[in-house]
Amino acid sequence: MSNLYSFAIGVGSKNSKGEWLEVFYPAPLLNPEQTLGDIVTLSLGIESGEIEPSTEQLAALQSALNHNGYSELAQTIEQLAASSRPVVAVLMTDDLPPVSVPQGYLKLHLLSHRLVKPHGTDLTGVFGALKNIAWTSAGAIDIEELPDRQLAARMAGQPLTVNCVDKFPKMVDYVVPNGVRIADTSRVRLGAYVGEGTTVMHEGFINFNAGTEGPNMIEGRVSAGVFCGAGTDVGGGASIMGTLSGGGNMVISMGEKCLLGANAGLGIPLGDRCTLESGLYITAGTIVTMLDDQKQATGKMKARELAGKSDLLFRRNSVTGTVECLTNKSAVELNAELHASN
Ligand SMILES: CC(C)(COP(=O)(O)OP(=O)(O)OC[C@H]1O[C@@H](n2cnc3c(N)ncnc32)[C@H](O)[C@@H]1OP(=O)(O)O)[C@@H](O)C(=O)NCCC(=O)NCCS
Repeated sequence: MSNLYSFAIGVGSKNSKGEWLEVFYPAPLLNPEQTLGDIVTLSLGIESGEIEPSTEQLAALQSALNHNGYSELAQTIEQLAASSRPVVAVLMTDDLPPVSVPQGYLKLHLLSHRLVKPHGTDLTGVFGALKNIAWTSAGAIDIEELPDRQLAARMAGQPLTVNCVDKFPKMVDYVVPNGVRIADTSRVRLGAYVGEGTTVMHEGFINFNAGTEGPNMIEGRVSAGVFCGAGTDVGGGASIMGTLSGGGNMVISMGEKCLLGANAGLGIPLGDRCTLESGLYITAGTIVTMLDDQKQATGKMKARELAGKSDLLFRRNSVTGTVECLTNKSAVELNAELHASN
């Protein structure tokens, strides 16, 4: 009866007007089995959309899940049913753009739980669906209600620290995927896909709808929409252009075993085993001189024509200033000891 694209039940926060601010889903599901979909739709009484389930509905759901062998999910429902905080269930029959906070958070959870890869779920309009929030030591607070809450905390002599003001929270407050190291957790937003074996150093950053296949070393910026293949190293301070602003519409990705040198910049997608010299910024329109194995120029082309090609080494000739492209003879090997996450 019910082929669901995704189902999740979670607990969240609301503002004083009863509007959702954020939702934590402990175990979001992608394409759940039809039996599970049937149980959910029957117990909650809706085919799609979102619902704040009553105690009776939660009890019915828990019992049906237990009865059909979904004991782990049943246990989660039992825990949520005991919560004094607002609980919400989201049922999506199709991969549609998120139109509410619970739906937006579900999509971001799907990415960070590694259920879908960047660009693998429709995030159209997610900015509009989410609210700007003060993420504080007392939890999520609607930015409009922050001054009152700050005054109230001061009057009560209680500390209220605002850690950041953003529509997206940090990923690790919602999920810590296995096998990762993240030096500064505030630099990875919920909605990032952080593959197993990824290390994000202090200067590293991963936006939502972006990420790494794993294993990877990230010491630079992985902008929204960007995906890094296995074994790729984004060097210190390196920047990968995103597509959210600035007019660029080429989705940037890197294949396996690429190296972006320290402070390099990338504005075209790369294939496998490519290297960008430290400090060199390549944009789609950069004129590149192609060199053969004898380092002789064979022609010129725009970098966009090299998009997605493998085994390239880009450098800026330190004598002439010309951007050159050679065959990359030595692809990067991640240092196994340095990159281990156990
Ligand atoms: C681009 C890069 C990979 C080249 O390294 P490499 O392949 O080891 O090259 P080498 O430095 O051995 O140089 C090879 C030859 O090219 C020449 N060469 C290198 N870079 C050049 C440049 N920018 N302009 C002109 N010649 C250059 C060298 O002088 C050398 O010439 P030779 O064969 O006559 O001796 C390296 O300079 C680099 O930028 N690495 C990035 C490392 C990094 O930032 N890691 C992340 C840390 S956080």
